[in-house]
Amino acid sequence: MRREIHRGAEALRAGVVAFPTETVYGLGADVFNPEAVEMIFRLKGRPKFNPLIAHVGSPEQIETLASAISDTARTLIAHFWPGPLTLVFPKRPEVPDITTGGNPTVAVRMPKHPMALALIEEAGTAVAAPSANAFGRTSPTTAAHVLEQLGTEGYAIVDGGACRVGVESTVVSMTGPVPVLLRPGGISREELEEVIGPIEVLKEEENPVLKNAPLDSPGLLASHYAPKTPLRIVDVLPKKNEDPSIGMILLKPEDSVSIGPVEVLSPRGDLSEAAMNLYAALRRLDVLSLTEILAPRFPNTGVGRALNDRLGKAAHKG
Ligand code: TXA
Ligand code: MG
Repeated sequence: MRREIHRGAEALRAGVVAFPTETVYGLGADVFNPEAVEMIFRLKGRPKFNPLIAHVGSPEQIETLASAISDTARTLIAHFWPGPLTLVFPKRPEVPDITTGGNPTVAVRMPKHPMALALIEEAGTAVAAPSANAFGRTSPTTAAHVLEQLGTEGYAIVDGGACRVGVESTVVSMTGPVPVLLRPGGISREELEEVIGPIEVLKEEENPVLKNAPLDSPGLLASHYAPKTPLRIVDVLPKKNEDPSIGMILLKPEDSVSIGPVEVLSPRGDLSEAAMNLYAALRRLDVLSLTEILAPRFPNTGVGRALNDRLGKAAHKG
């Protein structure tokens, strides 16, 4: 592992590195190096108004990026870092505009993955990283997924095997009087509210930073995390499917019988295990030239909310 990290940190000094986190693979560059950050946007084909998350190797490192860190924020940090929780604060002037999509705020998280933490520490700087997928497409949970979508040129890659959480971090804005949940993710709303009391909830596409989006791209971000095959979400899956060109995502094996391809997310019907497997399952179905992929609506609690959010965006056309 040491060698791999050393190589990654070297590459980070000058450019871009794909690396594992507990949620999904990130495509990282030094937060404070605008040219390297620009390269991330180019490699992903990502619009510049969409800001990146700055990854830190310790809670203290947040002081290099953010200001006005409230007691509530410090409580969240103490409970959930390292882990899949991203917090948004007013940015320090040293953080370049390109990293934050021109916003006066910066999103920060401390990932819970030994290789990510070692990489950040050895690089000696915070690492700006979006998920390492082509813009709008399914997020990668293995190094092979990254290579499939982004090719092999223009960045280095640190391989840490499969990601354990499988859906991205929860994003919470700490810039107003009440914390606002901007994107459901690996830490559930219930877990957050248990620690700090009630929070507000916005849809990801209502995220205030996206108000900078150009007028000719409305709805651009409603469609996201998407496979190429049309995806349809149903309240209840058909008990029996006799069309071999229809693929299905099942939470557990007994949810349906199908002559088409199926992907079972969790033999025991566990939502966290389902989250870990969702993106890889979507990718496997997506290469089979199916006419349609059917997916169920998951129970809307805990990480089930993040699953429903991602599938909803993956199914959205337009
Ligand atoms: O789990 C994750 O969060 C992964 C891993 C690599 O850490 N990263 C990730 O990054 O999902 P990305 O770029 O795919 O998603 C970042 C999310 C977007 O919803 C973006 O709009 C929001 O964070 N975000 C970033 N900076 C923000 C800011 N200053 N204010 C509000 N939202 C922000
Ligand atoms: Mg992403």
